[in-house]
Amino acid sequence: MLAPLDPTPSLRMPTPADSRLPNPRSIAFIGGGNMARSLIGALIRGGARAGSIAVAEPNAELRDALARDFGVAVHDAARTAAQGADVLVLAVKPQVLKTVCTDLAKVAAASRPLVISIAAGIRIEQLRAWFDTDLPIVRAMPNTPALIGAGATGLIANDSTSAEQRAQAEAILGAAGRTVWIEREELMDTVTALSGSGPAYFFLLVEALEEAAVAQGLPREAARALATQTCLGAGRMLVEDGESPARLRERVTSPGGTTAAALDAFAAGDLRGLVAAAVDAATRRGRELSEQYS
Ligand SMILES: NC(=O)c1ccc[n+]([C@@H]2O[C@H](COP(=O)([O-])OP(=O)(O)OC[C@H]3O[C@@H](n4cnc5c(N)ncnc54)[C@H](OP(=O)(O)O)[C@@H]3O)[C@@H](O)[C@H]2O)c1
Repeated sequence: MLAPLDPTPSLRMPTPADSRLPNPRSIAFIGGGNMARSLIGALIRGGARAGSIAVAEPNAELRDALARDFGVAVHDAARTAAQGADVLVLAVKPQVLKTVCTDLAKVAAASRPLVISIAAGIRIEQLRAWFDTDLPIVRAMPNTPALIGAGATGLIANDSTSAEQRAQAEAILGAAGRTVWIEREELMDTVTALSGSGPAYFFLLVEALEEAAVAQGLPREAARALATQTCLGAGRMLVEDGESPARLRERVTSPGGTTAAALDAFAAGDLRGLVAAAVDAATRRGRELSEQYS
């Protein structure tokens, strides 16, 4: 497990003072794997009380580690963890979500919790059908940098979700990075193609930069260090500078200079067209997977 990054001012964790969890006694995580662990860790570091969090996780080792590291209540069954919870965070793999929702349907119908699903590709209507009742539901699409507190999460809520519940969802997912609300659920496939799969695109670019420099004779270690730090530096400038990416690019591109020569080569290879085709392919695949789960 990677250690959390020190949050920059614009990527900081919520603090007890700005916590917007109106009733922090009762969040139940169903599934205590990677994503739940990072969200729980971020919430605790942000000031949530351990006593406010319960986790259901079948794996005893994971369960013990969550109890030991964060002091949260752990259960081996979803129903006992979910009993009386105001918020249910569904953090299991998409393949097991149907079983989990049908198992929790009675408990949920009785207490009407806010349901937050982070399962990739499972639509709100599908969750509603599995719970067999109209509940406030928020669907969230986080990405892997959430594991180090630098995630990007797209969120969408159904009409049954109150403003207070939207704020609760934002506070929970926002503990592990940035959140962005979207208004139309079909755009969740675009969010998946942009920020869900996005880290891999940047890893590929760093790989390609490293390969190109090694091919010109730079030692691999030096090439990796320079490419990696360049990626981090450019990312931080994007977040901290507040300028558009186009303006930042123009600022480092002198007419007739080295950067301009490289950008001309990218344009000749239609980099923008290639990126659009890649995002389109990921969006279509996301849609296909969603249909499979429905
Ligand atoms: N990791 C990411 O970067 C990422 C990004 C976006 C979205 N997501 C979504 O987040 C969800 C969780 O991903 P993850 O990476 O955290 O997966 P994970 O590490 O596999 O965690 C899921 C956990 O749920 C447990 N589980 C299975 N059935 C259960 C049940 N009936 N009740 C309670 N717990 C149960 C699993 O135990 P067993 O292993 O014993 O079955 C596992 O420990 C997935 O739906 C995924 O699509 C993840």
